[in-house]
Amino acid sequence: MRHPFPDQKPGTSGLRKKVPVFQEPGYTEAFIQSIFDSLEGIEGKTLVIGGDGRFYNREVIQTAIRMAAANGFGRVLVGQGGILSTPAASHLIRKNKAFGGLILSASHNPGGPTEDFGIKYNISNGGPAPEKITEAMYARTQTIDRYLIADFDDVDLDQTGVFEAGGMAIEVVDPVTDYAELMETLFDFDAIRALVSGGFMVAFDAMHAVTGPYAREILVRRLGVDPALVFNATPLEDFGGHHPDPNLVHARMLYDLMMGPDAPDFGAASDGDGDRNLIIGRNIFVTPSDSLAMLAANAHLAPGYKGGLKGIARSMPTSGAADRVAAKLGVEMHETPTGWKFFGNLLDAGRCTICGEESAGTGSDHVREKDGLWAVLLWLNILAVRRQSALEIVRDHWAEYGRTYYSRHDYEAIETENANRLMAALEDSFGSLAGRQVGSLTVEKADSFSYHDPVDGSVSRNQGLRIFFEGGARLVFRLSGTGTSGATLRVYMERHEPDVSRHDQETQTALAPVIEAAETLAGIRKHTGRDAPTVIT
Ligand code: G6P
Ligand code: ZN
Repeated sequence: MRHPFPDQKPGTSGLRKKVPVFQEPGYTEAFIQSIFDSLEGIEGKTLVIGGDGRFYNREVIQTAIRMAAANGFGRVLVGQGGILSTPAASHLIRKNKAFGGLILSASHNPGGPTEDFGIKYNISNGGPAPEKITEAMYARTQTIDRYLIADFDDVDLDQTGVFEAGGMAIEVVDPVTDYAELMETLFDFDAIRALVSGGFMVAFDAMHAVTGPYAREILVRRLGVDPALVFNATPLEDFGGHHPDPNLVHARMLYDLMMGPDAPDFGAASDGDGDRNLIIGRNIFVTPSDSLAMLAANAHLAPGYKGGLKGIARSMPTSGAADRVAAKLGVEMHETPTGWKFFGNLLDAGRCTICGEESAGTGSDHVREKDGLWAVLLWLNILAVRRQSALEIVRDHWAEYGRTYYSRHDYEAIETENANRLMAALEDSFGSLAGRQVGSLTVEKADSFSYHDPVDGSVSRNQGLRIFFEGGARLVFRLSGTGTSGATLRVYMERHEPDVSRHDQETQTALAPVIEAAETLAGIRKHTGRDAPTVIT
Protein backbone atom coordinates (compact mmCIF):
# COMPACT_ATOMS: atom_id res chain seq x y z
CA MET A 1 0.00 0.00 0.00
CA ARG A 2 1.62 3.24 -1.10
CA HIS A 3 -0.54 5.86 0.54
CA PRO A 4 -3.47 6.34 2.89
CA PHE A 5 -6.87 7.10 1.36
CA PRO A 6 -8.13 10.54 2.39
CA ASP A 7 -11.84 9.75 2.13
CA GLN A 8 -12.38 6.95 4.65
CA LYS A 9 -14.47 8.88 7.14
CA PRO A 10 -17.28 6.71 8.52
CA GLY A 11 -20.71 8.35 8.25
CA THR A 12 -23.94 7.74 10.17
CA SER A 13 -23.45 4.03 9.73
CA GLY A 14 -19.94 3.02 8.76
CA LEU A 15 -18.01 3.71 5.57
CA ARG A 16 -20.15 3.75 2.44
CA LYS A 17 -18.80 4.20 -1.05
CA LYS A 18 -19.44 3.00 -4.54
CA VAL A 19 -18.16 -0.51 -5.26
CA PRO A 20 -15.40 0.69 -7.64
CA VAL A 21 -13.98 2.79 -4.79
CA PHE A 22 -13.78 -0.26 -2.53
CA GLN A 23 -12.17 -2.10 -5.46
CA GLU A 24 -9.26 0.34 -5.70
CA PRO A 25 -6.12 -1.61 -4.80
CA GLY A 26 -5.62 -1.52 -1.04
CA TYR A 27 -8.72 0.56 -0.32
CA THR A 28 -10.79 -2.05 1.50
CA GLU A 29 -7.70 -3.41 3.23
CA ALA A 30 -6.66 0.04 4.44
CA PHE A 31 -10.04 0.61 6.04
CA ILE A 32 -10.26 -2.81 7.68
CA GLN A 33 -6.70 -2.46 8.96
CA SER A 34 -7.54 0.99 10.36
CA ILE A 35 -10.43 -0.60 12.22
CA PHE A 36 -8.22 -3.33 13.64
CA ASP A 37 -5.45 -0.85 14.51
CA SER A 38 -7.92 1.22 16.54
CA LEU A 39 -8.92 -1.73 18.70
CA GLU A 40 -7.01 -2.96 21.67
CA GLY A 41 -6.74 -6.55 22.83
CA ILE A 42 -7.99 -8.47 19.80
CA GLU A 43 -5.39 -11.22 20.23
CA GLY A 44 -7.13 -14.60 20.35
CA LYS A 45 -10.60 -13.05 20.38
CA THR A 46 -13.69 -13.78 18.26
CA LEU A 47 -14.82 -11.60 15.37
CA VAL A 48 -18.24 -11.93 13.68
CA ILE A 49 -18.32 -11.29 9.93
CA GLY A 50 -21.32 -11.12 7.65
CA GLY A 51 -23.10 -8.96 5.17
CA ASP A 52 -26.32 -8.31 3.32
CA GLY A 53 -25.30 -10.34 0.27
CA ARG A 54 -24.85 -7.41 -2.07
CA PHE A 55 -22.32 -7.31 -4.89
CA TYR A 56 -18.72 -7.57 -3.58
CA ASN A 57 -19.87 -9.08 -0.27
CA ARG A 58 -18.11 -12.41 -0.77
CA GLU A 59 -14.82 -10.88 -1.89
CA VAL A 60 -14.63 -8.53 1.09
CA ILE A 61 -15.54 -11.36 3.46
CA GLN A 62 -12.58 -13.40 2.20
CA THR A 63 -10.30 -10.40 2.63
CA ALA A 64 -11.65 -9.71 6.11
CA ILE A 65 -11.13 -13.34 7.16
CA ARG A 66 -7.51 -13.30 5.98
CA MET A 67 -6.86 -9.97 7.66
CA ALA A 68 -8.48 -11.14 10.91
CA ALA A 69 -6.08 -14.10 10.94
CA ALA A 70 -3.04 -11.91 10.28
CA ASN A 71 -4.10 -9.45 12.96
CA GLY A 72 -4.32 -12.13 15.62
CA PHE A 73 -8.01 -12.90 16.07
CA GLY A 74 -8.46 -16.42 17.37
CA ARG A 75 -11.79 -17.17 15.76
CA VAL A 76 -14.15 -15.73 13.20
CA LEU A 77 -17.85 -16.53 12.94
CA VAL A 78 -19.14 -16.05 9.42
CA GLY A 79 -22.70 -16.31 8.18
CA GLN A 80 -23.23 -19.06 5.61
CA GLY A 81 -23.07 -17.64 2.10
CA GLY A 82 -21.60 -14.50 3.65
CA ILE A 83 -25.08 -13.62 4.86
CA LEU A 84 -25.98 -12.06 8.18
CA SER A 85 -28.70 -9.52 8.70
CA THR A 86 -27.51 -6.60 10.78
CA PRO A 87 -29.67 -7.52 13.81
CA ALA A 88 -28.64 -11.19 13.52
CA ALA A 89 -24.98 -10.11 13.47
CA SER A 90 -25.61 -8.01 16.57
CA HIS A 91 -27.15 -11.02 18.28
CA LEU A 92 -24.27 -13.33 17.28
CA ILE A 93 -21.74 -10.89 18.72
CA ARG A 94 -23.62 -10.78 22.01
CA LYS A 95 -24.40 -14.47 22.22
CA ASN A 96 -20.83 -15.52 21.53
CA LYS A 97 -19.28 -12.75 23.61
CA ALA A 98 -17.30 -11.79 20.53
CA PHE A 99 -14.89 -8.89 20.57
CA GLY A 100 -16.85 -7.25 17.77
CA GLY A 101 -18.09 -7.69 14.25
CA LEU A 102 -17.69 -6.46 10.72
CA ILE A 103 -21.00 -5.90 8.96
CA LEU A 104 -20.77 -5.44 5.23
CA SER A 105 -23.71 -3.47 4.00
CA ALA A 106 -24.86 -0.22 2.52
CA SER A 107 -28.26 -0.87 4.05
CA HIS A 108 -31.05 0.42 1.84
CA ASN A 109 -28.78 1.80 -0.87
CA PRO A 110 -28.79 -0.02 -4.22
CA GLY A 111 -26.25 -2.75 -4.92
CA GLY A 112 -24.33 -3.91 -7.98
CA PRO A 113 -20.97 -3.38 -9.71
CA THR A 114 -21.36 0.39 -9.85
CA GLU A 115 -23.63 0.83 -6.85
CA ASP A 116 -23.01 1.04 -3.14
CA PHE A 117 -21.04 -1.00 -0.64
CA GLY A 118 -20.28 -0.41 3.01
CA ILE A 119 -18.27 -1.63 5.98
CA LYS A 120 -19.30 -1.06 9.55
CA TYR A 121 -17.69 -2.14 12.79
CA ASN A 122 -19.78 -3.18 15.79
CA ILE A 123 -18.41 -3.42 19.30
CA SER A 124 -18.80 -6.18 21.88
CA ASN A 125 -22.25 -5.05 23.04
CA GLY A 126 -23.40 -5.82 19.48
CA GLY A 127 -23.96 -2.19 18.58
CA PRO A 128 -22.36 0.16 16.07
CA ALA A 129 -19.05 1.60 17.25
CA PRO A 130 -19.62 4.89 19.05
CA GLU A 131 -18.21 8.13 17.68
CA LYS A 132 -15.09 8.01 19.83
CA ILE A 133 -14.10 4.76 18.12
CA THR A 134 -15.15 5.75 14.59
CA GLU A 135 -13.11 8.93 15.01
CA ALA A 136 -10.07 6.92 16.04
CA MET A 137 -10.57 4.69 12.99
CA TYR A 138 -10.79 7.70 10.73
CA ALA A 139 -7.66 9.19 12.27
CA ARG A 140 -5.87 5.92 11.62
CA THR A 141 -6.95 5.89 7.96
CA GLN A 142 -5.09 9.17 7.53
CA THR A 143 -1.72 7.77 8.45
CA ILE A 144 -1.90 4.07 7.71
CA ASP A 145 0.91 2.73 5.54
CA ARG A 146 0.58 -1.05 5.76
CA TYR A 147 -1.93 -3.82 6.27
CA LEU A 148 -1.59 -7.36 7.53
CA ILE A 149 -3.09 -10.20 5.55
CA ALA A 150 -2.61 -13.95 5.78
CA ASP A 151 -2.13 -16.07 2.73
CA PHE A 152 -4.59 -18.96 2.43
CA ASP A 153 -7.23 -20.22 0.02
CA ASP A 154 -10.74 -18.82 -0.05
CA VAL A 155 -12.94 -20.25 2.68
CA ASP A 156 -15.96 -22.19 1.41
CA LEU A 157 -18.67 -19.90 2.66
CA ASP A 158 -21.46 -22.17 1.51
CA GLN A 159 -20.78 -25.03 3.93
CA THR A 160 -21.47 -24.66 7.61
CA GLY A 161 -18.75 -26.08 9.81
CA VAL A 162 -15.52 -25.28 11.54
CA PHE A 163 -12.33 -24.80 9.55
CA GLU A 164 -8.84 -23.76 10.44
CA ALA A 165 -6.61 -21.45 8.45
CA GLY A 166 -3.82 -19.04 9.24
CA GLY A 167 -3.81 -20.22 12.86
CA MET A 168 -7.41 -19.12 13.31
CA ALA A 169 -10.68 -21.02 13.68
CA ILE A 170 -13.26 -20.16 11.05
CA GLU A 171 -16.82 -21.11 11.86
CA VAL A 172 -19.38 -20.82 9.10
CA VAL A 173 -22.77 -20.69 10.81
CA ASP A 174 -26.37 -20.78 9.70
CA PRO A 175 -27.36 -17.09 9.69
CA VAL A 176 -30.96 -17.63 10.77
CA THR A 177 -31.14 -20.25 13.55
CA ASP A 178 -29.83 -18.29 16.53
CA TYR A 179 -31.80 -15.23 15.55
CA ALA A 180 -35.03 -17.19 15.12
CA GLU A 181 -34.54 -18.70 18.57
CA LEU A 182 -34.10 -15.27 20.09
CA MET A 183 -37.37 -14.16 18.49
CA GLU A 184 -39.13 -17.18 20.02
CA THR A 185 -38.07 -16.01 23.46
CA LEU A 186 -39.58 -12.55 22.93
CA PHE A 187 -42.85 -13.27 21.20
CA ASP A 188 -45.81 -15.57 21.63
CA PHE A 189 -45.36 -17.70 18.52
CA ASP A 190 -48.36 -19.87 19.45
CA ALA A 191 -50.63 -16.84 19.53
CA ILE A 192 -49.31 -15.53 16.21
CA ARG A 193 -49.62 -18.99 14.65
CA ALA A 194 -53.22 -19.19 15.85
CA LEU A 195 -53.95 -15.77 14.37
CA VAL A 196 -52.44 -16.75 11.03
CA SER A 197 -54.13 -20.15 10.89
CA GLY A 198 -57.42 -18.42 11.65
CA GLY A 199 -57.15 -16.69 8.28
CA PHE A 200 -55.24 -13.51 9.13
CA MET A 201 -53.22 -12.81 6.01
CA VAL A 202 -49.66 -11.50 6.35
CA ALA A 203 -47.62 -10.18 3.42
CA PHE A 204 -43.89 -9.53 3.59
CA ASP A 205 -41.57 -8.02 0.99
CA ALA A 206 -37.92 -8.98 1.51
CA MET A 207 -36.94 -6.76 -1.44
CA HIS A 208 -34.45 -9.37 -2.76
CA ALA A 209 -32.34 -8.54 0.24
CA VAL A 210 -31.08 -10.24 3.36
CA THR A 211 -34.37 -10.90 5.16
CA GLY A 212 -35.57 -13.44 2.59
CA PRO A 213 -34.12 -16.48 4.39
CA TYR A 214 -35.20 -15.10 7.77
CA ALA A 215 -38.75 -14.54 6.57
CA ARG A 216 -38.96 -18.02 5.08
CA GLU A 217 -37.83 -19.64 8.30
CA ILE A 218 -39.68 -17.47 10.80
CA LEU A 219 -42.80 -16.24 9.04
CA VAL A 220 -43.47 -19.18 6.76
CA ARG A 221 -42.03 -22.23 8.48
CA ARG A 222 -42.52 -21.34 12.12
CA LEU A 223 -45.62 -19.15 11.93
CA GLY A 224 -47.51 -20.55 8.96
CA VAL A 225 -47.63 -17.45 6.77
CA ASP A 226 -48.62 -18.20 3.17
CA PRO A 227 -45.34 -18.43 1.18
CA ALA A 228 -47.10 -16.89 -1.81
CA LEU A 229 -47.32 -13.68 0.21
CA VAL A 230 -43.61 -13.54 1.02
CA PHE A 231 -42.25 -11.59 -1.91
CA ASN A 232 -38.72 -11.23 -3.30
CA ALA A 233 -37.35 -13.67 -0.72
CA THR A 234 -34.19 -14.65 -2.58
CA PRO A 235 -31.27 -12.32 -1.82
CA LEU A 236 -29.74 -10.97 -5.04
CA GLU A 237 -26.43 -9.16 -5.43
CA ASP A 238 -28.14 -6.23 -7.08
CA PHE A 239 -31.48 -6.53 -5.25
CA GLY A 240 -33.08 -7.14 -8.61
CA GLY A 241 -32.01 -3.67 -9.70
CA HIS A 242 -34.15 -1.98 -7.05
CA HIS A 243 -33.39 0.07 -3.98
CA PRO A 244 -33.91 -2.26 -1.02
CA ASP A 245 -35.45 0.65 0.85
CA PRO A 246 -38.78 -0.09 2.50
CA ASN A 247 -40.52 3.20 1.91
CA LEU A 248 -43.55 4.27 -0.07
CA VAL A 249 -41.49 4.83 -3.19
CA HIS A 250 -39.43 1.65 -3.33
CA ALA A 251 -41.93 -0.69 -1.68
CA ARG A 252 -44.70 0.59 -3.91
CA MET A 253 -45.88 -2.88 -4.89
CA LEU A 254 -46.59 -3.76 -1.27
CA TYR A 255 -48.23 -0.41 -0.66
CA ASP A 256 -50.54 -0.79 -3.65
CA LEU A 257 -51.41 -4.32 -2.56
CA MET A 258 -52.24 -3.16 0.96
CA MET A 259 -54.39 -0.30 -0.28
CA GLY A 260 -56.15 -2.40 -2.92
CA PRO A 261 -59.41 -4.35 -2.84
CA ASP A 262 -57.75 -7.70 -2.04
CA ALA A 263 -55.41 -6.42 0.60
CA PRO A 264 -54.05 -8.93 3.10
CA ASP A 265 -54.59 -7.98 6.76
CA PHE A 266 -51.05 -6.91 7.42
CA GLY A 267 -48.08 -6.02 5.24
CA ALA A 268 -44.44 -5.34 6.02
CA ALA A 269 -41.08 -4.98 4.33
CA SER A 270 -37.47 -4.74 5.36
CA ASP A 271 -34.34 -3.25 3.83
CA GLY A 272 -31.03 -4.45 2.38
CA ASP A 273 -29.52 -5.56 5.69
CA GLY A 274 -32.73 -6.31 7.58
CA ASP A 275 -32.67 -3.62 10.21
CA ARG A 276 -35.43 -1.37 8.88
CA ASN A 277 -39.14 -2.01 8.67
CA LEU A 278 -42.17 -0.73 6.85
CA ILE A 279 -45.54 -1.46 8.39
CA ILE A 280 -48.76 -1.20 6.42
CA GLY A 281 -52.05 -2.51 7.74
CA ARG A 282 -54.94 -3.10 5.37
CA ASN A 283 -55.70 0.41 4.12
CA ILE A 284 -53.43 2.08 6.64
CA PHE A 285 -49.78 3.07 6.33
CA VAL A 286 -48.20 3.39 9.76
CA THR A 287 -45.44 6.01 9.86
CA PRO A 288 -42.27 4.81 11.60
CA SER A 289 -42.73 7.49 14.26
CA ASP A 290 -46.27 6.29 14.95
CA SER A 291 -45.18 2.67 14.84
CA LEU A 292 -42.61 3.36 17.56
CA ALA A 293 -45.28 4.96 19.74
CA MET A 294 -47.78 2.16 19.13
CA LEU A 295 -45.26 -0.60 19.75
CA ALA A 296 -44.14 1.08 22.95
CA ALA A 297 -47.73 1.49 24.15
CA ASN A 298 -48.54 -2.18 23.49
CA ALA A 299 -45.21 -3.95 24.04
CA HIS A 300 -46.34 -5.39 27.39
CA LEU A 301 -48.66 -7.68 25.41
CA ALA A 302 -45.62 -9.67 24.20
CA PRO A 303 -43.92 -12.07 26.63
CA GLY A 304 -40.48 -10.45 26.23
CA TYR A 305 -41.81 -7.10 27.46
CA LYS A 306 -44.53 -8.12 29.89
CA GLY A 307 -42.64 -6.50 32.74
CA GLY A 308 -43.06 -3.09 31.09
CA LEU A 309 -40.55 -0.69 29.62
CA LYS A 310 -37.61 0.95 31.36
CA GLY A 311 -37.79 3.87 29.00
CA ILE A 312 -38.19 4.87 25.37
CA ALA A 313 -35.65 6.56 23.10
CA ARG A 314 -36.06 8.19 19.73
CA SER A 315 -33.80 10.11 17.38
CA MET A 316 -34.36 13.84 17.39
CA PRO A 317 -36.04 14.07 13.96
CA THR A 318 -38.50 11.31 14.91
CA SER A 319 -41.92 12.69 15.88
CA GLY A 320 -42.96 13.32 19.44
CA ALA A 321 -45.67 10.63 19.34
CA ALA A 322 -43.59 8.27 21.50
CA ASP A 323 -43.00 11.02 24.06
CA ARG A 324 -46.70 10.99 24.85
CA VAL A 325 -46.59 7.25 25.46
CA ALA A 326 -43.57 7.58 27.74
CA ALA A 327 -45.34 10.32 29.69
CA LYS A 328 -48.40 8.14 30.15
CA LEU A 329 -46.35 5.11 31.17
CA GLY A 330 -44.31 7.28 33.51
CA VAL A 331 -40.99 6.13 32.03
CA GLU A 332 -37.90 8.00 30.82
CA MET A 333 -37.89 9.46 27.32
CA HIS A 334 -34.60 10.12 25.52
CA GLU A 335 -33.96 12.20 22.42
CA THR A 336 -30.73 11.29 20.63
CA PRO A 337 -29.02 12.32 17.38
CA THR A 338 -29.78 10.34 14.23
CA GLY A 339 -27.92 7.03 14.15
CA TRP A 340 -28.58 3.84 16.06
CA LYS A 341 -25.19 4.03 17.75
CA PHE A 342 -26.52 6.72 20.08
CA PHE A 343 -28.97 4.27 21.67
CA GLY A 344 -26.22 1.84 22.71
CA ASN A 345 -25.26 3.52 25.98
CA LEU A 346 -28.90 4.00 27.01
CA LEU A 347 -29.70 0.36 26.31
CA ASP A 348 -26.57 -0.90 28.07
CA ALA A 349 -27.35 1.25 31.09
CA GLY A 350 -30.94 0.00 31.27
CA ARG A 351 -32.31 3.48 30.63
CA CYS A 352 -34.58 2.40 27.78
CA THR A 353 -36.13 -0.76 26.39
CA ILE A 354 -37.55 0.34 23.05
CA CYS A 355 -35.97 2.75 20.56
CA GLY A 356 -36.92 4.03 17.18
CA GLU A 357 -36.15 6.40 14.37
CA GLU A 358 -38.20 8.09 11.69
CA SER A 359 -35.93 6.39 9.14
CA ALA A 360 -37.91 3.16 9.57
CA GLY A 361 -35.85 1.70 12.38
CA THR A 362 -37.34 0.24 15.53
CA GLY A 363 -35.78 -2.10 18.02
CA SER A 364 -35.25 -2.97 21.64
CA ASP A 365 -32.67 -4.10 24.15
CA HIS A 366 -32.69 -7.65 22.71
CA VAL A 367 -29.83 -6.61 20.37
CA ARG A 368 -27.96 -3.36 19.79
CA GLU A 369 -29.21 -2.68 16.28
CA LYS A 370 -32.58 -1.82 14.94
CA ASP A 371 -34.42 -4.89 13.83
CA GLY A 372 -36.88 -5.10 10.96
CA LEU A 373 -38.35 -8.54 11.60
CA TRP A 374 -38.52 -7.87 15.32
CA ALA A 375 -40.85 -4.95 14.60
CA VAL A 376 -42.98 -7.13 12.33
CA LEU A 377 -43.22 -9.84 14.98
CA LEU A 378 -44.09 -7.39 17.75
CA TRP A 379 -46.87 -5.98 15.59
CA LEU A 380 -48.13 -9.50 14.89
CA ASN A 381 -47.99 -10.39 18.58
CA ILE A 382 -50.00 -7.28 19.45
CA LEU A 383 -52.51 -8.01 16.68
CA ALA A 384 -52.81 -11.59 17.91
CA VAL A 385 -53.57 -10.50 21.45
CA ARG A 386 -55.83 -7.55 20.72
CA ARG A 387 -57.73 -9.30 17.95
CA GLN A 388 -58.29 -5.99 16.22
CA SER A 389 -57.22 -4.83 12.79
CA ALA A 390 -54.10 -2.70 12.43
CA LEU A 391 -56.38 0.17 11.41
CA GLU A 392 -58.37 -0.14 14.64
CA ILE A 393 -55.21 -0.19 16.71
CA VAL A 394 -53.92 2.92 14.96
CA ARG A 395 -57.23 4.76 15.37
CA ASP A 396 -57.50 3.82 19.04
CA HIS A 397 -53.99 5.09 19.58
CA TRP A 398 -54.71 8.42 17.92
CA ALA A 399 -57.92 8.77 19.90
CA GLU A 400 -56.04 8.24 23.13
CA TYR A 401 -52.89 10.25 22.45
CA GLY A 402 -53.82 12.51 19.55
CA ARG A 403 -52.41 12.13 16.05
CA THR A 404 -49.00 13.49 15.16
CA TYR A 405 -49.01 14.27 11.45
CA TYR A 406 -45.52 13.67 10.18
CA SER A 407 -43.62 13.77 6.93
CA ARG A 408 -40.06 13.96 5.63
CA HIS A 409 -39.08 15.67 2.40
CA ASP A 410 -35.74 14.64 0.91
CA TYR A 411 -33.75 16.62 -1.65
CA GLU A 412 -31.30 14.04 -2.90
CA ALA A 413 -27.97 14.49 -4.66
CA ILE A 414 -27.79 18.25 -4.39
CA GLU A 415 -24.46 20.07 -4.52
CA THR A 416 -22.70 19.72 -1.19
CA GLU A 417 -21.76 23.40 -1.22
CA ASN A 418 -25.34 24.48 -1.77
CA ALA A 419 -26.56 22.24 1.00
CA ASN A 420 -23.96 23.60 3.40
CA ARG A 421 -24.83 27.16 2.41
CA LEU A 422 -28.52 26.55 3.08
CA MET A 423 -27.82 25.10 6.51
CA ALA A 424 -25.39 27.88 7.42
CA ALA A 425 -27.79 30.62 6.32
CA LEU A 426 -30.64 29.02 8.22
CA GLU A 427 -28.62 28.73 11.40
CA ASP A 428 -27.45 32.34 11.02
CA SER A 429 -31.08 33.46 10.97
CA PHE A 430 -31.87 31.77 14.28
CA GLY A 431 -30.86 34.75 16.43
CA SER A 432 -33.84 36.77 15.26
CA LEU A 433 -36.32 33.98 14.62
CA ALA A 434 -38.23 33.72 17.90
CA GLY A 435 -41.61 35.42 17.66
CA ARG A 436 -41.52 35.64 13.88
CA GLN A 437 -44.81 35.03 12.11
CA VAL A 438 -44.54 32.57 9.18
CA GLY A 439 -47.89 32.17 7.45
CA SER A 440 -50.27 30.95 10.13
CA LEU A 441 -47.43 29.82 12.41
CA THR A 442 -45.37 31.68 14.99
CA VAL A 443 -41.82 30.61 15.73
CA GLU A 444 -41.32 29.84 19.39
CA LYS A 445 -37.62 28.99 19.35
CA ALA A 446 -34.92 27.56 17.11
CA ASP A 447 -31.64 25.81 17.81
CA SER A 448 -28.95 23.50 16.55
CA PHE A 449 -29.42 20.18 18.32
CA SER A 450 -26.66 19.00 20.65
CA TYR A 451 -26.82 15.74 22.52
CA HIS A 452 -25.41 15.24 25.98
CA ASP A 453 -25.12 11.51 26.53
CA PRO A 454 -26.42 10.97 30.08
CA VAL A 455 -24.41 7.77 30.43
CA ASP A 456 -20.87 8.67 29.35
CA GLY A 457 -21.18 12.45 29.41
CA SER A 458 -20.05 12.85 25.78
CA VAL A 459 -21.45 15.71 23.72
CA SER A 460 -22.38 15.52 20.02
CA ARG A 461 -23.00 18.88 18.40
CA ASN A 462 -24.51 20.06 15.11
CA GLN A 463 -27.01 17.22 14.90
CA GLY A 464 -29.69 19.13 13.01
CA LEU A 465 -31.48 22.47 13.03
CA ARG A 466 -34.78 22.61 14.87
CA ILE A 467 -37.53 25.20 14.65
CA PHE A 468 -40.38 24.94 17.13
CA PHE A 469 -43.65 26.75 16.54
CA GLU A 470 -46.22 27.85 19.05
CA GLY A 471 -48.84 25.15 19.44
CA GLY A 472 -46.32 22.32 19.05
CA ALA A 473 -45.54 22.11 15.33
CA ARG A 474 -41.87 21.44 14.55
CA LEU A 475 -39.55 21.68 11.59
CA VAL A 476 -36.13 20.00 11.41
CA PHE A 477 -33.39 20.39 8.82
CA ARG A 478 -30.56 17.90 8.56
CA LEU A 479 -28.03 16.72 6.02
CA SER A 480 -28.00 12.98 5.52
CA GLY A 481 -24.95 11.11 6.78
CA THR A 482 -25.45 8.02 4.64
CA GLY A 483 -25.35 9.21 1.03
CA THR A 484 -22.54 8.36 -1.34
CA SER A 485 -22.84 11.21 -3.84
CA GLY A 486 -23.41 14.91 -3.20
CA ALA A 487 -25.59 15.88 -0.28
CA THR A 488 -29.12 15.01 0.72
CA LEU A 489 -31.14 17.58 2.56
CA ARG A 490 -33.81 16.15 4.83
CA VAL A 491 -36.64 18.32 6.03
CA TYR A 492 -38.80 16.79 8.76
CA MET A 493 -42.20 18.21 9.54
CA GLU A 494 -44.69 17.45 12.25
CA ARG A 495 -47.83 18.78 13.87
CA HIS A 496 -49.87 17.31 16.68
CA GLU A 497 -53.65 17.10 16.35
CA PRO A 498 -55.55 16.16 19.49
CA ASP A 499 -59.01 16.51 17.91
CA VAL A 500 -60.33 13.09 16.80
CA SER A 501 -62.64 14.67 14.26
CA ARG A 502 -59.51 15.91 12.44
CA HIS A 503 -57.64 12.64 12.27
CA ASP A 504 -58.65 11.89 8.69
CA GLN A 505 -56.73 14.54 6.85
CA GLU A 506 -54.26 13.78 4.13
CA THR A 507 -50.80 14.19 5.68
CA GLN A 508 -49.35 16.74 3.25
CA THR A 509 -52.50 18.82 3.58
CA ALA A 510 -52.46 18.63 7.35
CA LEU A 511 -48.84 19.77 7.30
CA ALA A 512 -49.23 22.48 4.63
CA PRO A 513 -48.43 25.42 6.93
CA VAL A 514 -45.27 23.69 8.19
CA ILE A 515 -44.18 22.77 4.66
CA GLU A 516 -44.70 26.36 3.60
CA ALA A 517 -42.71 27.61 6.58
CA ALA A 518 -39.81 25.35 5.57
CA GLU A 519 -39.54 27.09 2.22
CA THR A 520 -39.98 30.58 3.68
CA LEU A 521 -37.38 30.10 6.40
CA ALA A 522 -34.75 28.09 4.54
CA GLY A 523 -35.14 29.17 0.90
CA ILE A 524 -34.86 25.60 -0.31
CA ARG A 525 -35.69 26.51 -3.90
CA LYS A 526 -33.17 29.32 -3.99
CA HIS A 527 -30.34 27.27 -2.51
CA THR A 528 -30.91 23.95 -4.25
CA GLY A 529 -32.55 24.97 -7.49
CA ARG A 530 -35.16 22.29 -6.79
CA ASP A 531 -38.89 22.90 -7.04
CA ALA A 532 -39.90 19.77 -5.21
CA PRO A 533 -38.44 17.08 -3.01
CA THR A 534 -37.06 13.91 -4.63
CA VAL A 535 -38.78 11.69 -2.11
CA ILE A 536 -41.64 12.34 0.28
CA THR A 537 -42.12 9.86 3.08
C1 G6P B 1 -28.75 4.55 9.01
C2 G6P B 1 -28.63 4.39 10.48
C3 G6P B 1 -29.86 4.91 11.15
C4 G6P B 1 -30.12 6.33 10.74
C5 G6P B 1 -30.14 6.47 9.27
C6 G6P B 1 -30.18 7.94 8.94
O1 G6P B 1 -29.76 3.75 8.53
O2 G6P B 1 -28.45 3.04 10.82
O3 G6P B 1 -29.72 4.79 12.53
O4 G6P B 1 -31.35 6.79 11.23
O5 G6P B 1 -28.99 5.90 8.71
O6 G6P B 1 -29.64 8.20 7.74
P1 G6P B 1 -29.35 9.63 7.23
O7 G6P B 1 -29.18 9.41 5.77
O8 G6P B 1 -30.58 10.46 7.54
O9 G6P B 1 -28.13 10.15 7.94
ZN1 ZN C 1 -30.40 -1.01 7.03
